[in-house]
Amino acid sequence: MIWDTHAHLDDKQFKADRDIVLQRAREAGITTIVNIGHSEATSKESVELATKYPSLFYATVGIHPHDAKDCNDQTWILLERLAQNPKVIAWGEIGLDYYRDLSPRDVQRKVFIQQLELAKESGLPVVIHNRDAHGDILKIIKENPTGTGGVFHSYSGSWEMAKELLKIGYYLSFSGPLTYKNSRHTVEVAGKMPEDRFVVETDCPYLTPEPYRGKRNEPAYVREVVSKIAEIRGITFEKVAHLSTENAQKLFRI
Ligand code: NI
Repeated sequence: MIWDTHAHLDDKQFKADRDIVLQRAREAGITTIVNIGHSEATSKESVELATKYPSLFYATVGIHPHDAKDCNDQTWILLERLAQNPKVIAWGEIGLDYYRDLSPRDVQRKVFIQQLELAKESGLPVVIHNRDAHGDILKIIKENPTGTGGVFHSYSGSWEMAKELLKIGYYLSFSGPLTYKNSRHTVEVAGKMPEDRFVVETDCPYLTPEPYRGKRNEPAYVREVVSKIAEIRGITFEKVAHLSTENAQKLFRI
Protein backbone atom coordinates (compact mmCIF):
# COMPACT_ATOMS: atom_id res chain seq x y z
CA MET A 1 0.00 0.00 0.00
CA ILE A 2 1.56 3.26 -1.13
CA TRP A 3 0.02 6.70 -1.70
CA ASP A 4 1.29 8.94 -4.48
CA THR A 5 0.28 12.18 -2.76
CA HIS A 6 0.95 14.53 -5.69
CA ALA A 7 0.35 13.66 -9.34
CA HIS A 8 -0.92 15.30 -12.51
CA LEU A 9 -2.55 12.42 -14.41
CA ASP A 10 -4.79 14.91 -16.22
CA ASP A 11 -1.65 16.09 -18.09
CA LYS A 12 -1.77 15.68 -21.85
CA GLN A 13 1.31 13.44 -21.67
CA PHE A 14 -1.01 10.74 -20.26
CA LYS A 15 -3.75 11.21 -22.81
CA ALA A 16 -2.83 8.24 -25.01
CA ASP A 17 -2.14 5.59 -22.35
CA ARG A 18 -3.61 6.72 -19.02
CA ASP A 19 -5.36 3.42 -18.33
CA ILE A 20 -2.14 1.46 -18.89
CA VAL A 21 -0.27 3.83 -16.55
CA LEU A 22 -2.94 3.35 -13.87
CA GLN A 23 -2.76 -0.42 -14.30
CA ARG A 24 1.02 -0.31 -13.76
CA ALA A 25 0.43 1.82 -10.65
CA ARG A 26 -1.97 -0.76 -9.18
CA GLU A 27 0.47 -3.58 -9.97
CA ALA A 28 3.23 -1.62 -8.20
CA GLY A 29 1.13 -1.41 -5.03
CA ILE A 30 0.00 2.20 -5.43
CA THR A 31 -3.42 2.18 -3.81
CA THR A 32 -4.17 5.92 -3.85
CA ILE A 33 -3.25 8.84 -6.09
CA VAL A 34 -3.97 12.45 -5.17
CA ASN A 35 -4.43 14.37 -8.42
CA ILE A 36 -3.44 17.99 -7.95
CA GLY A 37 -5.19 20.99 -9.50
CA HIS A 38 -3.09 24.00 -10.43
CA SER A 39 -5.50 26.07 -12.54
CA GLU A 40 -9.26 26.33 -13.10
CA ALA A 41 -9.13 23.71 -15.89
CA THR A 42 -6.89 21.22 -14.07
CA SER A 43 -8.85 21.56 -10.82
CA LYS A 44 -11.97 20.58 -12.78
CA GLU A 45 -10.10 17.73 -14.49
CA SER A 46 -8.78 16.46 -11.16
CA VAL A 47 -12.31 16.21 -9.78
CA GLU A 48 -13.39 14.45 -13.00
CA LEU A 49 -10.60 11.87 -12.64
CA ALA A 50 -11.52 11.23 -9.00
CA THR A 51 -15.13 10.75 -10.06
CA LYS A 52 -14.20 8.40 -12.90
CA TYR A 53 -11.81 6.24 -10.78
CA PRO A 54 -13.20 6.59 -7.25
CA SER A 55 -11.26 3.67 -5.76
CA LEU A 56 -7.88 5.03 -6.91
CA PHE A 57 -8.07 8.84 -6.90
CA TYR A 58 -8.65 11.83 -4.70
CA ALA A 59 -8.44 15.40 -6.01
CA THR A 60 -7.32 18.85 -4.92
CA VAL A 61 -8.30 22.26 -6.26
CA GLY A 62 -6.17 25.38 -6.38
CA ILE A 63 -4.31 27.97 -8.43
CA HIS A 64 -0.54 27.58 -8.82
CA PRO A 65 1.60 30.73 -8.53
CA HIS A 66 2.37 30.41 -12.27
CA ASP A 67 -1.37 30.87 -12.96
CA ALA A 68 -1.97 33.54 -10.29
CA LYS A 69 -2.09 36.30 -12.91
CA ASP A 70 -5.15 34.72 -14.56
CA CYS A 71 -7.41 34.69 -11.45
CA ASN A 72 -10.58 36.67 -10.98
CA ASP A 73 -13.68 36.51 -8.78
CA GLN A 74 -15.17 33.80 -11.01
CA THR A 75 -12.15 31.60 -10.25
CA TRP A 76 -12.95 31.53 -6.55
CA ILE A 77 -16.64 30.82 -7.17
CA LEU A 78 -15.69 27.84 -9.36
CA LEU A 79 -13.08 26.46 -6.94
CA GLU A 80 -15.31 26.83 -3.88
CA ARG A 81 -18.02 24.90 -5.69
CA LEU A 82 -15.55 22.15 -6.73
CA ALA A 83 -14.17 21.98 -3.18
CA GLN A 84 -17.55 20.82 -1.92
CA ASN A 85 -17.13 17.54 -3.82
CA PRO A 86 -16.36 14.80 -1.26
CA LYS A 87 -13.43 13.56 -3.40
CA VAL A 88 -11.63 16.91 -2.88
CA ILE A 89 -9.31 16.45 0.11
CA ALA A 90 -6.98 19.48 -0.04
CA TRP A 91 -6.51 23.00 -1.41
CA GLY A 92 -3.51 23.34 -3.73
CA GLU A 93 -1.14 23.51 -5.19
CA ILE A 94 -0.69 27.07 -4.01
CA GLY A 95 2.35 29.08 -3.02
CA LEU A 96 5.13 31.18 -4.49
CA ASP A 97 7.55 30.59 -7.34
CA TYR A 98 10.29 33.22 -7.52
CA TYR A 99 12.41 31.02 -9.79
CA ARG A 100 10.28 31.17 -12.92
CA ASP A 101 8.32 34.30 -11.95
CA LEU A 102 5.49 33.55 -14.40
CA SER A 103 3.18 35.85 -12.42
CA PRO A 104 4.26 39.13 -10.81
CA ARG A 105 5.39 38.49 -7.23
CA ASP A 106 2.84 40.81 -5.61
CA VAL A 107 0.06 38.99 -7.49
CA GLN A 108 1.48 35.61 -6.41
CA ARG A 109 1.44 36.72 -2.76
CA LYS A 110 -2.11 38.10 -2.97
CA VAL A 111 -3.49 34.95 -4.63
CA PHE A 112 -1.63 32.71 -2.15
CA ILE A 113 -3.10 34.57 0.85
CA GLN A 114 -6.58 34.51 -0.71
CA GLN A 115 -6.37 30.72 -1.07
CA LEU A 116 -5.11 30.18 2.48
CA GLU A 117 -8.30 31.95 3.53
CA LEU A 118 -10.43 29.75 1.23
CA ALA A 119 -8.75 26.58 2.56
CA LYS A 120 -9.51 27.73 6.08
CA GLU A 121 -13.17 28.35 5.19
CA SER A 122 -13.42 24.99 3.41
CA GLY A 123 -11.66 23.18 6.25
CA LEU A 124 -9.12 21.67 3.83
CA PRO A 125 -5.37 21.10 4.36
CA VAL A 126 -3.11 22.96 1.93
CA VAL A 127 -0.58 21.66 -0.64
CA ILE A 128 2.23 24.18 -0.94
CA HIS A 129 4.60 24.86 -3.82
CA ASN A 130 7.72 26.85 -2.93
CA ARG A 131 10.53 27.73 -5.24
CA ASP A 132 13.18 30.24 -4.17
CA ALA A 133 10.66 32.01 -1.91
CA HIS A 134 11.47 30.53 1.50
CA GLY A 135 11.34 33.81 3.47
CA ASP A 136 8.03 35.08 2.07
CA ILE A 137 6.37 31.64 2.26
CA LEU A 138 7.24 31.23 5.94
CA LYS A 139 6.10 34.75 6.76
CA ILE A 140 2.78 34.35 4.92
CA ILE A 141 1.86 30.94 6.36
CA LYS A 142 2.68 32.16 9.87
CA GLU A 143 0.59 35.33 9.42
CA ASN A 144 -2.33 33.46 7.81
CA PRO A 145 -2.80 30.19 9.70
CA THR A 146 -5.49 27.93 8.21
CA GLY A 147 -5.80 25.63 11.20
CA THR A 148 -6.08 22.75 8.74
CA GLY A 149 -2.42 21.73 8.37
CA GLY A 150 -0.78 20.97 5.08
CA VAL A 151 2.21 19.69 3.19
CA PHE A 152 5.24 21.20 1.45
CA HIS A 153 5.26 19.33 -1.82
CA SER A 154 8.53 18.06 -3.31
CA TYR A 155 10.44 19.49 -0.38
CA SER A 156 13.92 20.62 -1.36
CA GLY A 157 14.80 23.20 1.27
CA SER A 158 17.27 23.08 4.13
CA TRP A 159 16.95 21.19 7.41
CA GLU A 160 16.77 24.60 9.14
CA MET A 161 13.63 25.53 7.19
CA ALA A 162 12.22 22.01 7.62
CA LYS A 163 12.46 22.40 11.40
CA GLU A 164 10.42 25.64 11.19
CA LEU A 165 7.74 23.93 9.10
CA LEU A 166 7.57 20.86 11.34
CA LYS A 167 7.20 23.16 14.35
CA ILE A 168 4.03 24.72 12.90
CA GLY A 169 2.58 21.34 11.97
CA TYR A 170 3.39 20.90 8.30
CA TYR A 171 4.25 17.61 6.60
CA LEU A 172 7.12 17.27 4.12
CA SER A 173 6.69 15.43 0.83
CA PHE A 174 9.60 13.77 -1.01
CA SER A 175 9.82 13.14 -4.74
CA GLY A 176 12.22 12.11 -7.52
CA PRO A 177 14.97 14.69 -6.86
CA LEU A 178 15.75 12.88 -3.57
CA THR A 179 17.26 10.12 -5.76
CA TYR A 180 19.54 12.51 -7.71
CA LYS A 181 23.26 12.75 -7.11
CA ASN A 182 23.21 16.44 -6.08
CA SER A 183 20.47 16.02 -3.46
CA ARG A 184 22.68 16.37 -0.38
CA HIS A 185 20.36 18.80 1.49
CA THR A 186 17.22 16.80 0.76
CA VAL A 187 18.94 13.57 1.84
CA GLU A 188 19.85 15.27 5.12
CA VAL A 189 16.21 16.29 5.69
CA ALA A 190 14.91 12.81 4.77
CA GLY A 191 17.30 11.32 7.31
CA LYS A 192 16.47 13.70 10.16
CA MET A 193 12.70 14.25 9.80
CA PRO A 194 10.39 12.63 12.35
CA GLU A 195 8.89 9.39 11.03
CA ASP A 196 5.33 10.63 11.50
CA ARG A 197 5.62 13.77 9.35
CA PHE A 198 6.54 12.76 5.81
CA VAL A 199 4.75 11.56 2.68
CA VAL A 200 5.90 10.56 -0.82
CA GLU A 201 4.88 11.71 -4.29
CA THR A 202 5.86 11.63 -7.95
CA ASP A 203 4.67 15.06 -9.24
CA CYS A 204 4.34 13.06 -12.46
CA PRO A 205 4.80 13.61 -15.38
CA TYR A 206 7.63 15.75 -13.92
CA LEU A 207 10.56 15.04 -11.53
CA THR A 208 11.23 11.46 -12.65
CA PRO A 209 13.36 9.54 -10.11
CA GLU A 210 16.49 7.56 -10.90
CA PRO A 211 16.90 5.13 -12.65
CA TYR A 212 14.14 6.42 -14.96
CA ARG A 213 15.36 10.02 -15.11
CA GLY A 214 14.86 11.46 -18.61
CA LYS A 215 11.63 9.51 -19.16
CA ARG A 216 8.08 10.59 -18.34
CA ASN A 217 7.34 10.06 -14.64
CA GLU A 218 4.34 7.97 -13.47
CA PRO A 219 2.84 6.85 -10.13
CA ALA A 220 4.51 3.39 -10.14
CA TYR A 221 7.91 5.12 -9.88
CA VAL A 222 7.07 6.49 -6.42
CA ARG A 223 8.57 3.17 -5.23
CA GLU A 224 12.03 4.62 -6.04
CA VAL A 225 11.40 7.46 -3.58
CA VAL A 226 10.26 4.97 -0.90
CA SER A 227 13.41 2.88 -1.53
CA LYS A 228 15.67 5.91 -1.23
CA ILE A 229 14.13 6.96 2.11
CA ALA A 230 14.51 3.37 3.36
CA GLU A 231 18.18 3.38 2.34
CA ILE A 232 18.84 6.80 3.96
CA ARG A 233 17.14 5.86 7.25
CA GLY A 234 18.37 2.25 7.34
CA ILE A 235 14.86 0.79 7.62
CA THR A 236 12.89 -1.53 5.32
CA PHE A 237 10.97 -0.55 2.20
CA GLU A 238 7.80 -1.94 3.81
CA LYS A 239 8.27 0.23 6.90
CA VAL A 240 8.64 3.41 4.81
CA ALA A 241 5.63 2.46 2.66
CA HIS A 242 3.57 1.86 5.80
CA LEU A 243 4.64 5.09 7.53
CA SER A 244 4.09 7.26 4.44
CA THR A 245 0.59 5.81 3.94
CA GLU A 246 -0.35 6.31 7.57
CA ASN A 247 0.98 9.88 7.42
CA ALA A 248 -0.93 10.64 4.19
CA GLN A 249 -4.15 9.44 5.80
CA LYS A 250 -3.56 11.72 8.80
CA LEU A 251 -2.57 14.70 6.64
CA PHE A 252 -5.62 14.37 4.36
CA ARG A 253 -7.90 13.05 7.16
CA ILE A 254 -8.97 9.89 5.33
NI1 NI B 1 2.75 19.56 -8.99
